Amino acid sequence: MFDRLCIIGVGLIGGSVARAARHYGLCKQIVGYGRPEDKHNLETAKKLGVIDDYYLQIEPAVSSADCVVIATPVASLESIFAALKPYWSETTIYTDVGSTKVSVVKAAQQVFGEVPDNFVPAHPIAGAEQSGVEASFYDLFLNRRLIITPLENTSKEALNKVQSFWERCGSVVSVMDVKHHDSILAATSHLPHILAFALVNMLGHKDEQSEIFKYAAGGFRDFTRIASSDPAMWRDICSANKSEIIPLLQQTREQLDTLQHLLENDESQQLLTIFAYANTARQRFLTQFEGNMSKSITFQVQPGGLLQGEARVPGDKSMSHRSIMLGSLANGVTHVKGFLEAEDALATLQAFRDMGVEIEGPVNGSLTIKGVGKHGLKAPKNELYLGNSGTSMRLLSGLLAGQPFDSVLTGDKSLSGRPMKRVTGPLAAMGADIKTTEQGTAPLYITGKSGQLKGIDYVMPMASAQVKSCLLLAGMYADGETSVTEPAPTRDHTERMLSGFSYPVTKEGSKVTINANGDLTASDIDVPSDISSAAFFLVGASIAPGSDLTLRHVGINPTRTGVIDILRLMGAKIEVLNEREVGGEPVADLHVVYSPLKGIDIPEHLVPLAIDEFPVLFVAAACADGQTRLSGAEELRVKESDRIQVMADGLQILGVDAQPTADGMVIQGGSIGGGVVTSHGDHRIAMSFSIAGLRANAPITVLDCANVNTSFPEFKDLVKRLGLDLVCEEA
Ligand code: S3P
Repeated sequence: MFDRLCIIGVGLIGGSVARAARHYGLCKQIVGYGRPEDKHNLETAKKLGVIDDYYLQIEPAVSSADCVVIATPVASLESIFAALKPYWSETTIYTDVGSTKVSVVKAAQQVFGEVPDNFVPAHPIAGAEQSGVEASFYDLFLNRRLIITPLENTSKEALNKVQSFWERCGSVVSVMDVKHHDSILAATSHLPHILAFALVNMLGHKDEQSEIFKYAAGGFRDFTRIASSDPAMWRDICSANKSEIIPLLQQTREQLDTLQHLLENDESQQLLTIFAYANTARQRFLTQFEGNMSKSITFQVQPGGLLQGEARVPGDKSMSHRSIMLGSLANGVTHVKGFLEAEDALATLQAFRDMGVEIEGPVNGSLTIKGVGKHGLKAPKNELYLGNSGTSMRLLSGLLAGQPFDSVLTGDKSLSGRPMKRVTGPLAAMGADIKTTEQGTAPLYITGKSGQLKGIDYVMPMASAQVKSCLLLAGMYADGETSVTEPAPTRDHTERMLSGFSYPVTKEGSKVTINANGDLTASDIDVPSDISSAAFFLVGASIAPGSDLTLRHVGINPTRTGVIDILRLMGAKIEVLNEREVGGEPVADLHVVYSPLKGIDIPEHLVPLAIDEFPVLFVAAACADGQTRLSGAEELRVKESDRIQVMADGLQILGVDAQPTADGMVIQGGSIGGGVVTSHGDHRIAMSFSIAGLRANAPITVLDCANVNTSFPEFKDLVKRLGLDLVCEEA
């Protein structure tokens, strides 16, 4: 990209920029510049091969450079700009790495009057407690966010070049306004540094009289890690951004006062509410952070074993989503039990918090939702990030289409590749205004059309509960009747829960109808265990000789029990015990013992009733005697991954004769071997291949399993407790 790159200030960050540029082949020559007192450091940088040469005078350092990166402390920028000014070249690109951006721009204005159009302010959000070039490393910026804050006059060419430089160093680049950058960084970086310095300062003085540090351990070390950062640098950063930091300090003080008050008055429930909120907020942060960092989780499964005992798998995902949605829109307070505390359902929960709904919990699956009424949602301040969750995005698009505010829905890489036209198409016919990408995928830009939606009579081209539910939610805000006809029965949790909340919804054959003349009345919800999570154990116990397992309190809504029907057709022994009804949904205990399975042609009418269970049913088919054939399941190609292709690829690696077809798969049962398979980030595929280990004759390594947390974070512990030898490795 560049012939000669000049780094001004070759410390941890400047050195790492140089190393990254060299590692990724982004320039031919790298030179460093520093003050005479930096000579020793520059000498080290040269010896380490970080730079090719260095200068103690600025003119020769920058004269023939086509890119200059300023990597000195933010307080020094004005003097650096002043030194550069006489040699400033139109044909060179200048950029910096400062942690505050308003001060950098001011420094440039001070020196140049107007900020030169070939200076592109930037900030890599990466660092380490150590400083100096010895601590630099080339992948410091890999998968880390980098913010560019161009000004109105910044040259597009310079901006593009700086952006592509950082992308080629592995950074995830965002572009934003200078002030916005400083307000975000004040909260996420500057305030935590001040708090860490403050705490260690206070306790450090106490430690002189007592022995606090002697007994401080991991928690203290983790909380205070950043107090080991360079004090002078942080003094400069905090001073440069004080106008953003001071209001945050005030808010922190108020929060501490609240906590103190709660402790003084023994208000333990309130304290728990605050801690539980913080706990889920941190989980949300980790999910996004680890998503960026592409943290990889691998399941190592040893062959053999059997499943024995009893278990209650976590709450139903579909119902958990809907409990938040309808509870939020209800008049009154809804208590939810059995809520699924996994990333997908928590994404929905967060979206409603972002729209002003007060939700307490979850604590051990219990939530309290303070409903705001059908018209009480507030405009979210930012985009609503829905992670991996297709249900959140599709249902919310219907709900948000008729609101009096605009919204933007985003998701992770998998969700951003999934088809959204299936919902935005019929919604547009109702008068909604939703923009997708050209490919019909997220982000969804929704312009609220309050009072302008019209009912529709829609015949769905595919059997999809998400599309049906999306249109029913939109129908609650539309003029006239909204009807959805499904080509085959799909899960009906939305309809049932609407009725449970006293909202009129009628069903005639395959047609469901709703209108806007209704209100939701808060109603407590007891979410049963998710049959889709139970399915892994139903198959596991069916294929592993000697297994005997009872799964408690599983939802057996007839629109979800296809997996039981299919397994029984294959010869599985599954008993449905203690059938009862809980909050309008049928529930039972499922008892399953090992039984030799045989291959079958899966009846097409069962496909929508077992739509999420096919990955693990393919494993059952691989263990069955004879051929199993699935057809009419093209929908599997647009789930969290292309479940037909990904399962066929993995099964073939394990030595199974699995032939994908356009709308299903043909599997010759036999033995399962070992090998390394990938889930392609699809939670259900990761769990299915783990279950295959019960009948494999060699170890199975399943790559890319982090997304198991979207639906079943306890899977690895539970499956181990019940008898599978699975080790989870993080890297
Ligand atoms: C769901 C519906 C199904 C299912 C998904 C959850 C729901 O999707 O696969 O996991 O909660 O409505 P489709 O509607 O796309 O079939």
